[in-house]
Amino acid sequence: MTADWLDIGWLDQIPVRGARTVPVAGGEEIAVFRTGDNQVFALVNRCPHKGGPLSQGIVHGHSVACPLHNWNIALKTGTAQGEDKGCTPTVPVKIVSGRVLIGRAGALAAA
Ligand code: FES
Repeated sequence: MTADWLDIGWLDQIPVRGARTVPVAGGEEIAVFRTGDNQVFALVNRCPHKGGPLSQGIVHGHSVACPLHNWNIALKTGTAQGEDKGCTPTVPVKIVSGRVLIGRAGALAAA
């Protein structure tokens, strides 16, 4: 039986206000972000503007600034903030006993 959640490692392995990436089928990547208040969020690692690698952006609060043109993307919803329009798919994520788990179905849907 396949588990619904994929264990991707310890929360402590993700830098605070940073991200790590997880490759999934189809060459896509999931970016798993850790905020300053130790929450985690997972998005497809692709900016809704022109596909910038969100995992390399700067996390502030519960948003990430895309490294290419500085759009702000809400980590919870994947939507662009302010005047900008667009949305990156989100992936379910949770922390269990210090381990970070991402939803397998979400990861596959992103691929
Ligand atoms: S590609 Fe992200 S802001 Fe342009």
